[in-house]
Amino acid sequence: MLEAGQLNVLEVRNLQVKVSTKRDTLSLVQNINFEVKKGSVLGLVGESGSGKTVTSMSILQLLDRKTTTIEGSIKLNGQELNGLNSKQMRKIRGKDIAFIMQNPMNAFTPVLTIGHQFIETIRSHISCSKNRAREIAIEAMSDVNLLEPAKLLKSYPFQLSGGMLQRVMIAIAACTHPAVIIADEPTTALDVKNQKTVLYHLDKIRVEYGSAILLISHDLGVIAEMADEVAVMQNGRIVEKADVFQLFDDPQHQYTKKLLDARPLLHEDETIIHLA
Ligand SMILES: Nc1ncnc2c1ncn2[C@@H]1O[C@H](COP(=O)(O)OP(=O)(O)OP(=O)(O)O)[C@@H](O)[C@H]1O
Ligand SMILES: [Mg+2]
Repeated sequence: MLEAGQLNVLEVRNLQVKVSTKRDTLSLVQNINFEVKKGSVLGLVGESGSGKTVTSMSILQLLDRKTTTIEGSIKLNGQELNGLNSKQMRKIRGKDIAFIMQNPMNAFTPVLTIGHQFIETIRSHISCSKNRAREIAIEAMSDVNLLEPAKLLKSYPFQLSGGMLQRVMIAIAACTHPAVIIADEPTTALDVKNQKTVLYHLDKIRVEYGSAILLISHDLGVIAEMADEVAVMQNGRIVEKADVFQLFDDPQHQYTKKLLDARPLLHEDETIIHLA
């Protein structure tokens, strides 16, 4: 039998990120502790500038190595990520952790077509011909409502909108079955119909492959619908962490109460988002 600790796909302990400027060193996030279990969703909420993206970028070691330092421990299935070099991290990012970026343009190489990048990624996971990989990519793109996927594969990243690129990243994740998906505001750039599609597919990947998801969103409706647990960030710290029902029913921290009070009012019998 597995011990409880082994079910944690991602474990972050005492994470602190500092950035050096010309004049001094600033701490961007500190004392960050959380874990995400296999097949579960941890929602990360907090106001703009509270450190959500810095936290996710530090897990992936995507922050500028020259100006930032990361202290603490980031374990993926027991393997320490903090301190791995760029080459080792590239392997992990392509394979074990999928990242749906808030600024998706940065996730793609600008001079290569979407198809080139998508097909290469599939073929680094599954041994198949280019044609087969193209078919898999086209199917995964149709699943997330991307129209004319064959044409999109021939496009360059700058020819797609941010929301489209995020959906391409979700389609890639659906093909690579990562242990962890970090989704930073995956629905913000989308209209309601596409928000639902994206959430539905994230959830489907979780159910089918047991991926753990770190879901960053300022949208408490999305969090209520998707998350099992929620961590609330303020000023670079996690101020409250709880089961989703507990957090919404009985928030403990003053800031969480404020955040919940700022929600648009809903009628009691009205759920916020229907995934089906
Ligand atoms: N490279 C950097 N150098 C200096 N400060 C930075 C750097 N990157 C981020 N910050 C600062 O760190 C803080 C946290 O930023 P972060 O992008 O993580 O916020 P966030 O919670 O993701 O906000 P949002 O909801 O707007 O996406 C902000 O004050 C930001 O200005
Ligand atoms: Mg952010």
